[in-house]
Amino acid sequence: MTLRALKQIIPALDTSDGAGVRIKRSIGQRQSVRMDPFLMLDEFGSDQPQDYIAGFPNHPHRGFETVTYMIEGHMLHEDHLGNRGNLRNGGVQWMTAGRGIVHSEMPQQESGVMRGFQLWLNLPAAEKMKPAGYQDIQPEDIPVFNPPGASVKLIAGEMTVSGARISGAVVGGSTQPIYADIHLEPNAQVCLPVAEPLNAMLYLYEGNAHLVTGDERTGLTRSAANVLADGDEVVVAAGEIGARLLLIAGRPIGEPVVQYGPFVMNTRDEIEQALRDYQTGQLTA
Ligand code: CO
Repeated sequence: MTLRALKQIIPALDTSDGAGVRIKRSIGQRQSVRMDPFLMLDEFGSDQPQDYIAGFPNHPHRGFETVTYMIEGHMLHEDHLGNRGNLRNGGVQWMTAGRGIVHSEMPQQESGVMRGFQLWLNLPAAEKMKPAGYQDIQPEDIPVFNPPGASVKLIAGEMTVSGARISGAVVGGSTQPIYADIHLEPNAQVCLPVAEPLNAMLYLYEGNAHLVTGDERTGLTRSAANVLADGDEVVVAAGEIGARLLLIAGRPIGEPVVQYGPFVMNTRDEIEQALRDYQTGQLTA
């Protein structure tokens, strides 16, 4: 068994998207900063309504999936297919843009804290033009397991922990994504299987924690994509105030990525086609 070490730290940059929603963007802050198959990871978190209130009015996507995980707050998703989903504390929205979707993501609160993450997961060429889809996952439908001193919410993927096979709310997919929200009590340590060939990262969003590889302990950077080296297992330990972090992993696609805003394809021609299709209403036809 090889324990995964820290390979690269991508600190999140403050930026804004949609109609002025303030976010911290790690993966995807520049087109060269990605972790195949993941294109982007945004953290949003504010108790100031002006940072989120304008939301993300109608906009298109093609060629990938978005996974929105709300820790605190209330957002309404509506799309051209007629899907309407209320995203609440602890809920997840898994949206497959495929050949095209036009949707809006609008805050349903005028005060209080809005906190969560949006992850962009790429699709391989063979699946980029599949029909759009949408899955609303309620907080109570996300499996949670509890190693000593820890609580692990398995949003996506499957893993065997202490001999028990645990399936997340979403399983399968050609990139076999793993998406877990890990809560650690002070000084607690957890070991999770994340085998090759998956690429993996940890995103620490609260407290402090370090990666354990044999005798070495490497501090994790908060609000950063802590990209992990190859290996079979991830061992992470919390510091004295505990920690909350995301584990995100997936099988690399290894294809060229050409992105233009909300369209992610393999070639420039396909991007131009997406723009034409959007202008002529064919994106969602
Ligand atoms: Co969107």
